[in-house]
Amino acid sequence: MAEGNEEARAVFPHKHLLGIEGLARRDVEMILDTADALRGITLRRIKKVQTLRGRMVVNAFFENSTRTRVSFEMAEKRLSADSVNIQASGSAMAKGETLLDTLQNIEAMRPDMVVIRHSCSGAPHFLARHLSSNVINAGDGHHEHPTQALLDALTIRHAKGTLERLEVAICGDIMHSRVARSNAHLLRLFGSRVRVAGPQTMIPRGVEEALGVRVCRSLAEAVEGADVVMMLRIQKERMGADLFPSDREYARCFGLTRDLLRGAKPDAIVMHPGPMNRGVEIAPDVADGERSVILGQVENGVAVRMAVLYLLAGASELPAE
Ligand code: CP
Repeated sequence: MAEGNEEARAVFPHKHLLGIEGLARRDVEMILDTADALRGITLRRIKKVQTLRGRMVVNAFFENSTRTRVSFEMAEKRLSADSVNIQASGSAMAKGETLLDTLQNIEAMRPDMVVIRHSCSGAPHFLARHLSSNVINAGDGHHEHPTQALLDALTIRHAKGTLERLEVAICGDIMHSRVARSNAHLLRLFGSRVRVAGPQTMIPRGVEEALGVRVCRSLAEAVEGADVVMMLRIQKERMGADLFPSDREYARCFGLTRDLLRGAKPDAIVMHPGPMNRGVEIAPDVADGERSVILGQVENGVAVRMAVLYLLAGASELPAE
């Protein structure tokens, strides 16, 4: 489907990608199938097609990023879109301009899509109400990180052959994790079961009902019999105060080791969205071990972001949601 698959373009029913919440199972399947179809481009000697030639994408990253920012830019280049990058430092936001003013000024230059990462939950939704471009959420506060959940789903589907009826353990700082929220929403669409574990101070009250997950008392309980073990970084930048005594203590209680991993299914995979704190939430020999698919997640990130750009480009005439 490298170029000109008008059928796929015609049916994606959303103008923006703001979160996994609000997507239907068929929307997720369409993105993952499109990503699988586009993956071949990234394996060619000349990794470029003309599909989005003449489209302009603005990558607005107002919070630090390595994987998401680079893979969006790579995805745009592989589809021949033009792109420009802005960030808070070096932009007029550093002089006091609001996010809305900044983006409305950018939009006056007529881009087609805006990819935004922001520390405020809901920032992409706010912009989607005010801009006519397609808006893609590249991570908003502790709310959602939809393309991360999609690339995680693609990685799980490759490893397990399905997203259905899996036991998935998501462990660590659940409170501040947009990755946990987006993954829980997505896995629920497929009937997989999510258990979470972490320090009590990092498990939000009411998470069972809000995300449909089971809260475990220990990391060992969460890992027991799991098909997928997803470890999360402690998001110190989102904490008002220390929520655990020390990294050493955290590693002792909530760090994934080879020993703990023996409780998972024999073919369980280990995931981490990155950036990792080696020796804190994950032991280095687990991060680099034979069960780890962490670099596969990163590789799949490019294909998933190509798919999202491709499908939204076809949906650009839809009215605002
Ligand atoms: N997983 C993820 O969002 O990584 P970055 O912060 O490096 O983009």
